[in-house]
Amino acid sequence: MSLNKEIEKYASLGKGKKYIIYSMGCQMNDHDSEKISYILENMGYKPTDNKEDSDLIIFNTCLVRENAELKVYGQLGALKHLKRIKQDLIIGICGCMPQRENIREYITTKLKHVDLIFGPNNIHKLPQLINNHLQTGKTEIDIVEDSREILEDIHYNRKYSYKSFVNIMYGCNNFCTYCIVPYTRGRESSREPKNILREIELLAEEGCKEVTLLGQNVNSYGKTLDNPVTFAELLREVNKIKGIERIRFMTSHPKDMSDELIYAMRDCEKVCEHLHLPVQSGSNILLESMNRKYTVEHYLSLIDKVKKEIPNIALTTDIIVGFPGETEKDFQDTLELVKQVKYDSAFTFLYSIREGTIAAKMKDQIPDDLKHERFERLLDTLYPIFYENNKKYKDKIVDVLVEDVSKTDDKILSGRTRTNKLIHFKGDKNLIGKFVNVKVTDFKTFTMEGKIV
Ligand code: SAH
Ligand code: SF4
Ligand code: F3S
Repeated sequence: MSLNKEIEKYASLGKGKKYIIYSMGCQMNDHDSEKISYILENMGYKPTDNKEDSDLIIFNTCLVRENAELKVYGQLGALKHLKRIKQDLIIGICGCMPQRENIREYITTKLKHVDLIFGPNNIHKLPQLINNHLQTGKTEIDIVEDSREILEDIHYNRKYSYKSFVNIMYGCNNFCTYCIVPYTRGRESSREPKNILREIELLAEEGCKEVTLLGQNVNSYGKTLDNPVTFAELLREVNKIKGIERIRFMTSHPKDMSDELIYAMRDCEKVCEHLHLPVQSGSNILLESMNRKYTVEHYLSLIDKVKKEIPNIALTTDIIVGFPGETEKDFQDTLELVKQVKYDSAFTFLYSIREGTIAAKMKDQIPDDLKHERFERLLDTLYPIFYENNKKYKDKIVDVLVEDVSKTDDKILSGRTRTNKLIHFKGDKNLIGKFVNVKVTDFKTFTMEGKIV
């Protein structure tokens, strides 16, 4: 049965009721939340910002670090009281946490007020799960741990009319030793290019101007298809779609960063001058024990090539501090690397033990205080680099897609440059979703200011 028929069957279940989704984790989850919201609103549910006011509360969860996990337990625990005074409140948990059996067990035994437990592969079953729960009052659990079957024609509510995420692949085969994702999202599997292109064409027809192609490892796209296609080939096809003006993608893995892809980025005028290329560490010893499958030298040679082919490229990365066995020398190597690459921005993480991964069993775990101390030193090294990079924009005119209006002043707009820099400037809110030229008048470490010219 198609998803729409399934929703139609339960179209009145949510009439007069309200829902709230707490979305945590990566863009995959944000995009899945847009799919959940589409389903619920077609069942009659209306969104609310207030959990006291809601009839259905869904936690779309992340398991990548311990604090994300603990926060959800805290929030679920706090809802016991609300559930007691509002007995027909439905509480659901989905995303990466329930993909792990030990976590499902914990929820079903310790957090019995949770009514729906489902995974990223079962979002389309939500109407049926809600219906079953309403009939029986029991906790509904629907999980497929590793699905290679890709469901097409899944609709979603878009948070923004002018930009959209587009899944191009699911899962991950890399098994970086610290990372839980391959155990929650299963094996890598790519969508057929024709389905991706059709989805983007429809988005363009609806007025969408920017797409972000999503996958845990986008540059390994296409390997699982019957007729393999490379990510570079896919980019060149997306670049031809009329109406789309900006193409972004997340996340690339250095081991799969081919020359062919660098040339496609250079040649496709719609592909933005931004590359997020997680390095994780600047030490070859740690890269090896992280199972990253590249060396610092290889990474730096990629950066050189990318900078040569796309001179105004912005580079961003992910870095983990305090991986098991990290010595002061390893950490110094990371500091050296970030100084050499001169990143525009970076996501920095304290290593977090994830049960079930190889690194969780490694000896030489780094004490918390040392992790924190190194983390601070890393930020002290990174921030001046970000600032210096932003300085280069001063007095330049940049092409900005207007994205939002300030929460405190409706005459201040925000938008992003092609290099993904956030910039604030005065303007009318009817410019949202349009492109404007902005002259950069001032800059800080993370943002810039300017005026429309
Ligand atoms: N697939 C993407 C993103 C994965 S998760 C990629 O490979 O880049 C996003 C980031 O979280 C990772 O790049 C890594 O830096 C960080 N991360 C993953 N597991 C972690 C852990 N156990 N502790 C700390 N950071 C972690
Ligand atoms: Fe995790 Fe590595 Fe896969 Fe990224 S590539 S999701 S860090 S296992
Ligand atoms: Fe988190 Fe799952 Fe994404 S663990 S980072 S929500 S794939």
